Amino acid sequence: MTETEPRTAFTVRRSDFPEGFVFATATSAYQIEGHAFGGAGRTHWDSFSEQPGKVARGENGAVACDHYHRWEEDLDLIAQAGFDGYRFSTSWARVMPDGETVNPEGLDFYDRLVDGMLARGLKPMATMYHWELPETLARRGGWTSREIPERFAEFTRTVADRIGDRLWSVAPVNEPWCVAWLSHYLGQHAPGLTDLGAAAKAMHHVCLAHGLSAQALRAAGVGNVGAVCNMEWALPASDSPEDAAAADLYDAIYSRWFASAFNKGVYPEIVLDGLAPHMPANWQDDMAAIAQPLDWFGINYYTCSRVVRTGGEWPALDTVPGPLPKTEMGWEIAPEGLGVLLRRTAQDYTGDLPIYVTENGLAHDDHDLRPDHGRIDYLDRHLAVARDAIADGVPLAGYTIWSLLDNYEWALGYDKRFGLVHVDFDTQARTPKASYHGLARALAE
Ligand code: FCB
Repeated sequence: MTETEPRTAFTVRRSDFPEGFVFATATSAYQIEGHAFGGAGRTHWDSFSEQPGKVARGENGAVACDHYHRWEEDLDLIAQAGFDGYRFSTSWARVMPDGETVNPEGLDFYDRLVDGMLARGLKPMATMYHWELPETLARRGGWTSREIPERFAEFTRTVADRIGDRLWSVAPVNEPWCVAWLSHYLGQHAPGLTDLGAAAKAMHHVCLAHGLSAQALRAAGVGNVGAVCNMEWALPASDSPEDAAAADLYDAIYSRWFASAFNKGVYPEIVLDGLAPHMPANWQDDMAAIAQPLDWFGINYYTCSRVVRTGGEWPALDTVPGPLPKTEMGWEIAPEGLGVLLRRTAQDYTGDLPIYVTENGLAHDDHDLRPDHGRIDYLDRHLAVARDAIADGVPLAGYTIWSLLDNYEWALGYDKRFGLVHVDFDTQARTPKASYHGLARALAE
């Protein structure tokens, strides 16, 4: 087999990783549960999907994978693949439909789910917020308002009081870059704003939410608290100095802002150059609360980006398509970037702190049940990079695949299939794909 030939079986196996390395798979609440069930409140994704042109086919998470009713079958699938852990999220609007008042059914659901994981020997790896903001709070300004971090800490406390005693790990916020920049500057996710002023406030408030939530978790006696940040390997699209500078700024906004704030209590200067005029008053006073001591740091990695300098207002940059093979999302397949970001994160931000790959995976053309060899190839190459990073001294302690199930891929609806398990959205039948079976074999070795 030459290096470039697609791999149809995993070459990497569990025994290539250190003893105790955690293999997991991930989902999130709104993407799989079925938000119409169990008394959950409306979220800003429900309203966003109703706005014409925002979400493919106007799809929403009302039914999704009906995991709310099928969670036992889904946990069985995770355990049968040989995973050690399951990264799931708790929906704020399920637990507190209006963002404040508790819905006991919501807490009961997560209670059952966590017990179900423990009964199957799976480590419950919780994320408190994976993007479905209760609509009531969104109407009061959402992430542009300082009220949100404070309410979020209360939500965290409520969840922690109920299930915190059984969680293996907790992260407050999934992918703060998406919560802030993608949703308030690029306009691609709810609430769909393209406003630098709103984005600057969200960039800070999501950090404060992380810090206050981490504090609330500690106060509730919950340990193993971390963070989950998405990172992209930012490459200049040409060898011009302008594109190099644009790529550096892109990297700082995307991959350094949060790593620096959470681990060092400072924001990168080159981002502040553009955001400072729009930041909330006295933001500096929050930096100590943001930089809570963490037990681990998580990186979600999917792709690289090619950055160009554009004219116009700060940040005056854009991305252009690159030459590498692409996934169904149009994302270039660049496993090398995972290694670059793992090494850089350990060296510049986290030191000896355990790092986890908290998401990695791809959308693949799995509309029928042909073997998803492209997924095996993608995962195997990224796992090999993870293994090599450990050999280089990166304290990588686990690797998580996005996702267990085909699910609601946000603005792209149900068409983009990221699952190890195929979901027929008419019948809700689950069918493990070739990648699931291949991985189960690799994890058993
Ligand atoms: C990540 C999200 C996850 C999913 C994958 C494809 O950014 O955390 O919900 O959408 O991308």
